[in-house]
This record gives sequence, structure tokens and C-alpha cells, in this order.
Amino acid sequence: MSSTNSKKLNSTMNNSLRKKYIQSSLRINSKNSKNIFERCYNCNMVYNKDSAIDLNNHKKFHDLSLNGRNWNKSWGEIITNHSKCNDIHNITDNIKKNKANTLDKYFLTPPTSSITSPKKGNNILLKTDTRMKKEYIVEIRKTFNSEIRAATQLMELVNNELNAPHDENDFWSTPSGNGKAFGYIKDNKLVGITTIEILDLNCKRGRWMISDSKVIVENVFPYFKLGISRIWVCKNQRGKGIAAKLLEAARLNTLVRTKEASIELEKWNLAWSQPTEMGGKLALKYNSVKHKSGKLLIPCYI
Ligand SMILES: CC(C)(COP(=O)(O)OP(=O)(O)OC[C@H]1O[C@@H](n2cnc3c(N)ncnc32)[C@H](O)[C@@H]1OP(=O)(O)O)[C@@H](O)C(=O)NCCC(=O)NCCS
Ligand SMILES: [Zn+2]
Repeated sequence: MSSTNSKKLNSTMNNSLRKKYIQSSLRINSKNSKNIFERCYNCNMVYNKDSAIDLNNHKKFHDLSLNGRNWNKSWGEIITNHSKCNDIHNITDNIKKNKANTLDKYFLTPPTSSITSPKKGNNILLKTDTRMKKEYIVEIRKTFNSEIRAATQLMELVNNELNAPHDENDFWSTPSGNGKAFGYIKDNKLVGITTIEILDLNCKRGRWMISDSKVIVENVFPYFKLGISRIWVCKNQRGKGIAAKLLEAARLNTLVRTKEASIELEKWNLAWSQPTEMGGKLALKYNSVKHKSGKLLIPCYI
């Protein structure tokens, strides 16, 4: 089977199409009734294990899916105020007390590190320093083709995994686009990404979703300022708080008042677009709100 076909046979294919390809190929190519196709249970790709091209394609796809995409140190605008995490003030205090050696002690996720500070005056120092670190968050710049290309390449995989349309990149990747993308960099890899739309408040796109039943509350049209179009973290880095940190970066850095001052939104102002099961769990933890009925509501948009 051609490499193009094997690519198509990754996790995104709907079942009937996948069956169709596998069955028809089996009739033509099966050797002694042995199935020459293999599904990788880590990345979910189906490939022809007798084809060098397919093996190579699987290797590339597998690595991307599990470990993220290579990322050049010079790419992206470093975000220094991405975290309002519990001990941010301790971190800042410690830096003041002991400038030289404290930076390495604070980790974004174990085991590598970065440091954030809400103090504007420290930003240049921190940005330079952060780029030397192994772990940090960037805003992907709309006028820098290399970083847009790298992020778009990862988004192809993300859209495949989410079964989402592939033509929804303009809002974060073109200068006239009304949105942003934030990437999580770890060990020179783009390991997580979120793309954020700025919602037009006149369009009545906001909805509340009841978390346990997934039912949309009728006749209520809340105004949410931002829409989480996509959020994804590579498989080997899940469960380390990366998605939550990306959301914080988006919350604090998408709407800006001036070049220097961003607008700090409430978490519920970030609405979800058709959350997946995993996305629903993240939403529940990150920004669900409790209704007076006791039900937990998730901000969504259509
Ligand atoms: C959903 C996804 C982005 C979460 O990324 P992540 O970096 O693992 O999430 P975090 O570690 O920041 O999770 C923060 C909290 O959300 C909750 N959460 C996130 N993913 C969860 C999961 N799979 N199961 C249960 N809870 C989960 C947890 O409460 C977690 O906090 P805790 O670990 O302290 O309990 C990631 O699993 C993913 O990329 N999935 C595939 C793409 C996808 O479905 N995207 C969502 C589109 S709506
Ligand atoms: Zn694989």
C-alpha cells in the first residue's frame, strides 16, 4: 500500500473507511493469509509493516504524536506571565533575595525548568534567560513563517486526532487573523499547543453546558470573550499540567490593552468548542462554574 494511503489510515479515519481500505488491500496483498498491516497502539496509526516507506512514515508520525515537534530556540514570543500559580509570589520574592542561583529551582513541569515573573521590568532578562531554559511558553508570531509552518504541521496531527476541520488556522496564523496560538516548549520540542479565537460578542455564540449530562442550557446566551478552538498535548507529556498552563497563558495574554498591558480575564471567559472527553475533564477542573442548582457548568461556544 502506498505511503499516502497509510497516512490516511491513521487514527482520524472513520471506521468504515478504515475497514474498507484494510479489507480491499488484504484481498490483494495478503501473504499466506497473514495480515501485513499493523496498528500501533501508541499513536494509533495503521501501516504496512512490509513497506519501507510506511515504516518510515510511521516512525515520523509516532514521534510527533508522542514527543511533539522540533522547535528552534529563536522561535516564538516568550510569555513570561503565563502562570498565576500558587507560589508565584514566593518565586518572585526568592529571586529578589537571591538573584543568581534561584532560577533553576523552579520547574514548570518536572524535571526541566523555567521561571516566570509578573514584574514587567524583569521581562527582558527573563526572556533571554527563559530561551536558554528547557521549558517555556511562547506565543506563535503571525509574521514568522518558520514558526507558523512548524505549528501548522503539528496542527495537522492535532486536527486528525480531534477529527476537526483542517481549514481553521487563519485566525491564529495570518496577520489579519483575530486570534492567537500558544505553544509549550520542552527540551526544544513543541509539546503542546492551543489556538484561541477572540469571540465577537454580538454573535451570541456562548452557551453553558451541563457537565455531567453534556446538555446545553436552552435560551441562555452568555458572553464569553475567548474561544478555545484547539488544545493538545503530546502523549508523553500529558498529565503534567501543561494544558492548564497553556490556558493560563491564553487567558492572560490574548486580549491586550496596550503593547505592554494585557487584560486579565476570569477563567470562565475561555469557552470550549465541542470538548472531547479529555477536554471535558480538563474543562471541569480548569474553568467549570457551579450553578445554584448544584450542577457544574462548562462555558462553551458554537
Ligand atoms: C486534554 C489534554 C489537552 C489535557 O492535557 P494535559 O496537559 O494532560 O492536562 P493537564 O495535565 O493540564 O490537566 C489539568 C487537569 O485537568 C484534568 N484532566 C486533564 N486531562 C484529564 C484526563 N485525561 N483524565 C482526567 N482528568 C484530566 C485533571 O483534573 C488535571 O489536573 P490533575 O492532574 O491535577 O488532576 C490532553 O489530554 C490532550 O491533548 N488530549 C487529546 C486532544 C484533546 O482531546 N483535546 C481537547 C479538545 S477539547
Ligand atoms: Zn506508533
